[in-house]
Amino acid sequence: MAKQAANYLCENCGKEYLNWQGQCENCGQWGTIVEQEVGEKVTQVILKRAGGKTGKLNKPETLSEISKHKLSRKSTQLSEFDRVLGEGLMPGSVILLTGEPGVGKSTLLLQFALAMAKTGGRVLYISAEEGLEQIANRAERIQAHKSINLATGSKQLRDLELINLYTLEEISQTIAAKNSPDLIILDSIQTIASSQVRGIPGGMSQVKYCAAELTSLAKQLGKTLLIVGHINKEGSIAGPKLLEHLVDVVLQFTGEEKSSLKVLRAHKNRFGSIDEAGIFLMTETGLDPLANVGEYFLSDNNFSQQVGACRSIILEGVRPLVIEIQALAVPSEFAYPKRVAEGISLARLQVLAAVLTKHLRLKLHDYDIYVNVAQGFKVLDRGADLAVALAVISSVTNKPINNSTIAFGEISLAGKLTSAMYNSRRTKEAKRLGYKQLITPEGYDSLNQLQQVI
Ligand code: TYD
Ligand code: MG
Repeated sequence: MAKQAANYLCENCGKEYLNWQGQCENCGQWGTIVEQEVGEKVTQVILKRAGGKTGKLNKPETLSEISKHKLSRKSTQLSEFDRVLGEGLMPGSVILLTGEPGVGKSTLLLQFALAMAKTGGRVLYISAEEGLEQIANRAERIQAHKSINLATGSKQLRDLELINLYTLEEISQTIAAKNSPDLIILDSIQTIASSQVRGIPGGMSQVKYCAAELTSLAKQLGKTLLIVGHINKEGSIAGPKLLEHLVDVVLQFTGEEKSSLKVLRAHKNRFGSIDEAGIFLMTETGLDPLANVGEYFLSDNNFSQQVGACRSIILEGVRPLVIEIQALAVPSEFAYPKRVAEGISLARLQVLAAVLTKHLRLKLHDYDIYVNVAQGFKVLDRGADLAVALAVISSVTNKPINNSTIAFGEISLAGKLTSAMYNSRRTKEAKRLGYKQLITPEGYDSLNQLQQVI
């Protein structure tokens, strides 16, 4: 096969050029444009070697023919993972799991692999990041996890096939080998490289080429492939953004450094909705699916009263979640009182403080105000406005709020309360969880009425 013409690619943003130039027109970086020379596709070489396994040409099929061999989803054995994928894993799909280093991607996939192995599925875990002993140690740690049966522990490890591979060529050969499992995990796309492409592992050209080749190989062989891709805080440099169009599903795993709460979301899902969120707690023994966050909060401190804390219901995708807003207002010693917000935006806190000052005549300019969302949750949902306001009022007036009270709704600049999106879904969840007092715009329409509540 003739070699394709050489072209150039920006290692930073992925823009392609016909000729070399010093600065990338797209991202403005200097010296990031490198030549890329692509030879014969690795997958084609492998498939030829594999004896033309998939050499047959596709022919059109009717809908009724298709429905006869329609694939059914497979449970991942992790309820929260299933929820995000859309009731399980679609066989033959290619999934990219992204997240910052250390968030728990390898733990999640290993836990999934162990659970699959336990139910008799064969899984191949290809690691280009960690040694096999390190993975085995982690597996042992996870084995103590309550969702995995300890009694079959050693068997699971034997059934789970682990291998260290670092090149696209070796990985492709292993995947295409006759007896290779149908479920493959690759950890991670940034640590492998192909000899067909220039650039270091993790560079844009390597990441793009390796992912494209592996996706096409998995599709041709009908294998399910889960690929780990690291992202940094901006979500770009390491490349997974470039890969989104290649794969069927893009999952993002996020969590705060200080919190053990981790949230899995789908950014793209060809087989399901992107509205669901999976919630996990990172424990000593791996990730614990947290099916009911509301109950988790309730069981935490039943029937207590607290100054400066108010519960709210936010929507994580379509899923209502109970959160707790904590506020601390202390007399300020500064000319400009301090406003510190963790978990909600500082701008929103400043707006809400201004609204409370104006419409409730609270002398907030005399107070430093600190607001925090318990469990390290990041809340963008305006539905939490009311709970932020109540927590601040509670701290300033020193009046406690019962934790069987829950508040949700938006606050306008005019001090009016308006229903948050999906208000009825939030109300239903609050009632289901047994909250006794619901403070929502349905019962109260202005801020003035709130002072009587607490
Ligand atoms: P890891 O899965 O290696 O993250 P990633 O693959 O995304 O880089 O693990 C993330 C962190 O989780 C690590 O700092 C150790 C911690 N951890 C636990 O707290 N409990 C556990 O059982 C495991 C396996 C890891
Ligand atoms: Mg990892």
